[in-house]
Amino acid sequence: MIHAVLIKIYPWIKALHVISVIAWMAGMFYLPRLYVYHCQTRRGSAESERFKVMEYRLLRQIINPAMVAATCFGVLLILTPGVVDWHSGWWLTKFAAVICMTGFHGALSRWRRDFLADRNTRPARFYRIANEVPTLLMVIIVVMVIVKPF
Ligand code: HEM
Repeated sequence: MIHAVLIKIYPWIKALHVISVIAWMAGMFYLPRLYVYHCQTRRGSAESERFKVMEYRLLRQIINPAMVAATCFGVLLILTPGVVDWHSGWWLTKFAAVICMTGFHGALSRWRRDFLADRNTRPARFYRIANEVPTLLMVIIVVMVIVKPF
């Protein structure tokens, strides 16, 4: 019964999964950019305080809920019969990349708390390089789910 319902609504769940993934990725690309600019401000300045508000809102109002939604819809896709072949390499690779993406999300959250407490010591260059991590993971994930090369 539940399996029949999941098969019927499969295209809708996949659409909602991709929509939430887009919102999640938009935030994951933008937040490290904000950190690059935040590094260039003086501690305690009005500019620095404004960045704190922008970082808080981006993480709490966009990135976190989008990640929860992407995971919930992703789990519903996993539960849909015939969608995932557990022995295929593409699925395991996507899964590993998603775990890394979630870990990077955790790191962004920790770094935000450092900025909030005015104790960030990492240079702008660090965040510029970190900015490339979600891009690389996103490319791997999309190639795995669409091309399914192995
Ligand atoms: C949060 C954990 C996630 C889970 C559990 C999950 C799970 C899944 C599953 C089971 C499918 C269906 C595959 C199929 O129909 O062949 C799917 C599709 C998809 N996922 Fe995810 N996913 C997650 C995160 C992500 C992320 C982070 C991205 C992109 C950066 C992503 C991008 C996609 C895309 C583009 C599709 C559609 C592929 C197609 O057209 O068949 N997913 N996901």
